[in-house]
Amino acid sequence: MPKIGDLAPDFEAVTTTGKIKFSEFNKESWVVFFSHPADFTPVCTTEMTGFAQEHDFFRLHNAKLLGLSIDSIHAHMGWVNNVKEKSGVLFDFPIIADIDMSISKLYGMLQPGESETAAVRAVFFIDPKGKIRLVMYYPMNVGRSMPEIKRVLVALQTAEEHKVSMPLNWQPGDKVIVPAPKTLAELAEREQSGLEMMDFYLAKKSL
Ligand code: BEZ
Repeated sequence: MPKIGDLAPDFEAVTTTGKIKFSEFNKESWVVFFSHPADFTPVCTTEMTGFAQEHDFFRLHNAKLLGLSIDSIHAHMGWVNNVKEKSGVLFDFPIIADIDMSISKLYGMLQPGESETAAVRAVFFIDPKGKIRLVMYYPMNVGRSMPEIKRVLVALQTAEEHKVSMPLNWQPGDKVIVPAPKTLAELAEREQSGLEMMDFYLAKKSL
């Protein structure tokens, strides 16, 4: 099962937008790679609709969306078409048809205690260098939170860009945590810094 810090395993796949090789798809872009248990099911329909409605947000944050389920390409096409007809929302990102379960197994999306035949609701946040930066797993009966998915993507990108960490419940625009001093000289500097400080090891600043 791939873990935070691992390189995302490469694979080739058939998707609703054509064949992809993951390492090519991931070049110079973040990838939000998520699985859903099954096409034509209610919770999955709400989740995929949410991803489609936020596609511009992910584009704006240099992140490509990539879906997956253990369904055929024909089932995917039928479902995408059905949702478009019923709600006007087009799932316009690639959805992998992982009918042999090979990619679900590679990414630990198949968790037999939950289901032996359907992927759980996983989300992998993969940076442009192909490194896994955050993983979420949800069971069949609880849909994910789109605000949280968007929040953690921005948090990961902001933490990386500014070399800082995010406190509990951080939202974009909130203060961030600066790294603790590691030498006595840095400690002395920290004491004079004017940062918002609980103590030397917990200091925050605005970006
Ligand atoms: C759903 O998306 O509603 C669902 C999918 C698989 C199992 C249970 C629920």
